[in-house]
Amino acid sequence: MASKRALITGITGQDGSYLTELLLRKGYDVWGIVRRSSTFNTSRIDHIYTDPHWSSMSLRLLYGDLTDSGRLTQIVEEVRPDEVYNLGAQSHVRVSFDEPEYTCDTVAMGTLRMLEAVRRIVPKARFYQASSSEMFGEVAETPQTENTPFRPRSPYGVGKVFAFHQTVNHRQAYGLFASNGILFNHESPRRGETFVTRKITRAVGRIKHGMQKKLYLGNLDAQRDWGFAGDYVEAMWLMLQHDEPDDFVVATGETHSVREFLEIAFGRVGLDYQDHVEIDPRYFRPTEVDLLLGDPTKAREKLGWEPRVSFRQLVEMMVDTDLALAHWEAEHGEGRLAPDGLYRTRPAN
Ligand code: NAP
Ligand code: GDD
Repeated sequence: MASKRALITGITGQDGSYLTELLLRKGYDVWGIVRRSSTFNTSRIDHIYTDPHWSSMSLRLLYGDLTDSGRLTQIVEEVRPDEVYNLGAQSHVRVSFDEPEYTCDTVAMGTLRMLEAVRRIVPKARFYQASSSEMFGEVAETPQTENTPFRPRSPYGVGKVFAFHQTVNHRQAYGLFASNGILFNHESPRRGETFVTRKITRAVGRIKHGMQKKLYLGNLDAQRDWGFAGDYVEAMWLMLQHDEPDDFVVATGETHSVREFLEIAFGRVGLDYQDHVEIDPRYFRPTEVDLLLGDPTKAREKLGWEPRVSFRQLVEMMVDTDLALAHWEAEHGEGRLAPDGLYRTRPAN
């Protein structure tokens, strides 16, 4: 039997890289859409071409952009996927206040463009939409479930609410197998360096190796339900194997503050975060999401999904990786290409 074909937007991102590995392990032909950039942006998936463990597997990349419907249509026509995972987005909440129009072009209109391409060309394909707990915004209740109303607090959140409803509408109006994963924050050593968790663990490594003294952050009281990205991509895949399309919260069911993250991360290397962290109001947001806590009961009961990595294990995994990276940088010089291929720049947001 021919392998199933999966098409992934956002394949170069954190989740795209873990999902690619998962699907290749399951025998899929994986196709990914890469946006053109002036520097290499494939560092999270380069190992799939170079590491003998992966290189015999079927991964193909095509240039495309969520803002270009003509190209998206052409790609869907060429690939004729069985499953589409729409992960591409300008995904940084703080940046979405600076670039609201571009953010919504990728997050909201980009989703509509992908849905329309699928509806016209491969209406039997299964479609996964990367919805977000950021949609709950100023939360109406705690914990948040699939029935909690959306009260978004950022242009990014507003764009994701549009995309969520558009996905539901394509399901209802055209019978598309289209599902929303409402994923709470998930992190990993591959997390972008301007998200708070990775910004912290990068700083811990650099401070420990004498390459940085201070870490400047914004709101330390924000609380998030943080899980491990490797666990969460499994939930995406399970949603598309389910017998019917539906919407699912994916979360750990625990919440922790940025401050707690700092305590464990600095504590892992024998430091006290209070000696190193300073508050910079630049990192405050015009409107903040104070607390997120998800109830993953439905995903557990209907998909059999459960998170495997605990909060402490997640923080320690990230610190240990960034400690090794800082050690490598201290020996070889900053800004060089590290062995895992990730090109390093200073966190800004
Ligand atoms: P990420 O690391 O920021 O990756 C985003 C991906 O989207 C990258 O591959 C990026 O390409 C691509 N992209 C950006 N603009 C694009 C455009 N105009 N056209 C095509 N591709 C574009 O995000 P992530 O953490 O993997 O998250 C994956 C998805 O889940 C996103 O939609 C995010 O909003 C959503 N989500 C994430 C979380 C979380 O906690 N991680 C939680 C809920 C929902 P470049 O590599 O070239 O930048
Ligand atoms: N980025 C950042 N930088 N956040 C900071 C900082 C800082 O210096 N200091 C404090 N924070 C706080 C933010 O104000 C926020 O309350 C919290 O840390 C988490 O911020 P991020 O890590 O940027 O993530 P996010 O929750 O805004 O958004 C992420 O999760 C969403 C799911 O809820 C992103 O991955 C989104 O794409 C995703 O949808």
